[in-house]
Amino acid sequence: MKRILILNGPNLNLLGERETSFYGNLRLEEINEMIKIEAEKYGLEVDFFQSNYEGALVEAIQKAKGKYDVIIINPAAYTHTSIAIRDAILAVNIPTIEVHLSNIYKREPFRHHSYISDVAIGQICGFGVQSYLLAIKAAAAISQQK
Ligand code: DQA
Repeated sequence: MKRILILNGPNLNLLGERETSFYGNLRLEEINEMIKIEAEKYGLEVDFFQSNYEGALVEAIQKAKGKYDVIIINPAAYTHTSIAIRDAILAVNIPTIEVHLSNIYKREPFRHHSYISDVAIGQICGFGVQSYLLAIKAAAAISQQK
């Protein structure tokens, strides 16, 4: 069975109460439940990790080596700042899909740059919870190719 690691960065633990016009009304646990159901359709096993700390996300990526076939990551604000998360993705060489709930290109200019997108297989953004569900579909396709 292919294994997928779902990583969520800072403030995503506040989904459902935080800036709902951008991020919707679903809590992270509810989103994770939807992801799990979607993953089961494709026969994928999923694990979840959220942290508000950059180093914890870097360590989670490092530990993923040899354990996971694909990483799906919403790095949240670290998207726009973190060379460390970028380097961790390059170091483990696990196919990675970047997701965002909101369309970062429709928002403030500082959100238009991602340190992750050019080291990811691809980026899915702007579809709310569907961004994650589309990423599961993409992860299923990618992990079949391996
Ligand atoms: C986000 C977009 C980021 O710019 C922001 O800092 C977030 C969430 C999204 O999912 O739309 O925290 O990654």
